[in-house]
Amino acid sequence: MDKKTVKDIDVSGKRVLVRVDFNVPLNENGEVVDGTRIEAALPTINYLLSKNCKVILMSHLGRPDGKVEEKLRLTPVAEFLSELLERPVKKADKTVTDEVKTAASNLKEGEILLLENLRFNPGEKKNDPEFAKNLASLADIYVNDAFGAAHRTHASTVGVANYLPAVAGLLLEKEIDNLNGLLENPKKPFIAVLGGNKVSDKVKVIDRLLDVVDGLLTGGGMCFTFLKAKGLNIGNSICQNEELEHAEEMLKKAEKNKVGFYLPKDVVVANELSESANHKVVSVENIPSDQKGLDIGPETISEYKKILATASTIFWNGPMGVFEMKPFENGTREVAQAIVDSKGTTIVGGGDSDAALKKFGLEKTISFISTGGGASLKVLEGAVLPGIEALMDKKKIRCKT
Ligand code: 3PG
Repeated sequence: MDKKTVKDIDVSGKRVLVRVDFNVPLNENGEVVDGTRIEAALPTINYLLSKNCKVILMSHLGRPDGKVEEKLRLTPVAEFLSELLERPVKKADKTVTDEVKTAASNLKEGEILLLENLRFNPGEKKNDPEFAKNLASLADIYVNDAFGAAHRTHASTVGVANYLPAVAGLLLEKEIDNLNGLLENPKKPFIAVLGGNKVSDKVKVIDRLLDVVDGLLTGGGMCFTFLKAKGLNIGNSICQNEELEHAEEMLKKAEKNKVGFYLPKDVVVANELSESANHKVVSVENIPSDQKGLDIGPETISEYKKILATASTIFWNGPMGVFEMKPFENGTREVAQAIVDSKGTTIVGGGDSDAALKKFGLEKTISFISTGGGASLKVLEGAVLPGIEALMDKKKIRCKT
């Protein structure tokens, strides 16, 4: 990465403001259900603690609209982190007020303070300079380690970097190195597996990947837009008609670049989306008009497994079907297992694919699972993320005070 990291500057004993992505799922009792993102921030936090820093952490949780929502307070996250670190984590109940400023300035070396949910403040999403300046006033150095939020232009991800020396955390560095490695220097054959519902979310990624991959395997709701673009009758399956033209362009680009663009040969269909729905396997040429496709079928699974077994690099984003429901989980589980069994480098782009790996207990054997769903797709589109652009370049020192 061409940006400075915490290891490129002297942080010893300094007050360091760290943007983390602690946007984690909570259950109805307000407990953290999956702490992967909190664990992923530990290398940076532990590094700063080893340098006797006073650590001020900040994050968003959920999407409160600039107002306090009691169930979205970061208190359970502070408790979870405290257990992981086996040391106290002070928790502020506001983002920035005079009391929070006092608490930050009273921190001793090796102490940690977590601010309240940044999105309780309307200035966060507006990238309000006053809010950014207030956040910056808490510390001497700013570290962005929130890869999952680096595609957002918010006060805590972009604005604050105008007022402090701004560097990347170790998670951010690892994410960028892994994902850029896919575009710049993938070991061949490189196979991408894309699923999920919306073609619109993936068009730019598909476009970029078609320049580097040897094969693209598709599944999930989005493949029906491609099947329709090829002139097939997709029955009641989900389809983004406004994306049909893009789908055709992508199929043409794959042909021009001599990339295998694989669509399902058979699918599991049902007349409704429910655990108890009657379901059956049909070829994609024979989808009944009153049925919808909800998973890839066995012939497709077996073809995809054979291709995945030849890959030296695999990138996966998006489930192959409605894996949350038993009758439609098979495609996602089998493809996930084939990725896990691969001897090559396997990179998973966060979000639903990560949830699927966890459901099937397969997450431990993947080379790298990104903590950012939307952000990882942006990187693979070739976009420069605003939260990364705002950081100091390795060569220059840039800091407005
Ligand atoms: C995520 O969960 O993808 C990140 O935390 C970003 O959250 P957001 O989509 O609400 O900005």
